[in-house]
Amino acid sequence: MTSSPQPPAPGDELSLLKAEFEAGSDVWRSALGGAVCVADPEAARAVMGNRHGVVAETSDFYHHRHGVFGPRSAQLTIGRAARSLVQRHLLDHRADLPRLVAERLAPRSEWPDAGNLLVLRHLRDVLLHPDAPPGLHRTVEAIVARAVLAGARQRHPAPSRLLFRRRALHALHTEIRARQRAARPLDHPAGPRDLVDVVVGGGGPAADPRELVEVYLSFLFATAGSIGFALGWSVLLLGTHPDRAAADPGRTVREALRLWPVAWLFARTPSRAQELGGTPVTPRDRLMVCSYLVHRHPGYWERPDEFVPERWAEGAPDGAYLPFGLGAHTCAGATVTVRLLEDLVGLLTRDWRVSVTPDGGGPQVGPALAPPRFTATLSRPDGCPERR
Ligand code: HEM
Repeated sequence: MTSSPQPPAPGDELSLLKAEFEAGSDVWRSALGGAVCVADPEAARAVMGNRHGVVAETSDFYHHRHGVFGPRSAQLTIGRAARSLVQRHLLDHRADLPRLVAERLAPRSEWPDAGNLLVLRHLRDVLLHPDAPPGLHRTVEAIVARAVLAGARQRHPAPSRLLFRRRALHALHTEIRARQRAARPLDHPAGPRDLVDVVVGGGGPAADPRELVEVYLSFLFATAGSIGFALGWSVLLLGTHPDRAAADPGRTVREALRLWPVAWLFARTPSRAQELGGTPVTPRDRLMVCSYLVHRHPGYWERPDEFVPERWAEGAPDGAYLPFGLGAHTCAGATVTVRLLEDLVGLLTRDWRVSVTPDGGGPQVGPALAPPRFTATLSRPDGCPERR
């Protein structure tokens, strides 16, 4: 670590934490709201794996404005059912991907929005089955446009955001109440039709519909948001390192998730007074595990800031890689997400030549770490026949 950190850009939490980390400590009390930031892989594993009950058991996914959706058994049921639903859909619709890429991304596309909208299109029926009310389909698309796309929130003034939020929550609430009344069980012979069925069936008849709306929104952000951003990072690296990234889509996806973990900061609360990586913490503290810094820790990674997909030839280095979290709350959608990303990156490298023109800005830092804006140009490599 160097002793001369770059000054953080105003308002950029990522630059602030990176500068603090480079100033010398890997578990420290940050200027960012006084939270204790964890960048040491060993301490990060202890917190995320909740070894010896060091933190109050929780995950960001089921956190919402009113508390935490629970009980844990319902969380697990919903997670498993969502994974199966997405998995089945991806298998059934894998053959649609080449056409989708050609239609949505060629010859030119504006990122990262193009990635989010492609994923939304591909998973549309999983988010909301085709026979759901048309108005609700429009609401889900509007939520993506106004709240999921990078920088979308800032495009609308606060009163308009508030009004939209109220209307969107009301529309989802109405649908969820209707499905609770219809009482279609999760083990219905035809399975859940979409993620609304998953949250309603998994939540059980007594679940608070307002909480189910929040869980549904977590799925919307995880799919159209996180997968879309992760695709964006892979495409950006593919365009800037064409030969190395094209060699192996699986390694490119893993390396993109290492350098630019979309889920870059996890919030936890200590369960008791204790020391974490030499820093005393109490239950009044807020912990922030920073996967972005863990993934670039110089004690664990060679050439940590460089794109080196070949490093994955040997498998994951032990214990300093957590793009999907760790322990009991590890992402339920991790394997399906990686499979879809590998399919898409594989297609792009097999059927297309990808070049990118960054617009000069930096990563878009929010609750998710989104790529900078860039334009991708897709052309067919010489001699490659048109595949539809
Ligand atoms: C690039 C895409 C994704 C990323 C980066 C991601 C990341 C994560 C992370 C880091 C966690 C752990 C949060 C914590 O411990 O505080 C998590 C949890 C979760 N994710 Fe994902 N996720 C992605 C996509 C998905 C998808 C597609 C699904 C749906 C099938 C999904 C479902 C879940 C669920 C249900 C949990 C909660 C697990 C539990 O607490 O039992 N995720 N995700």
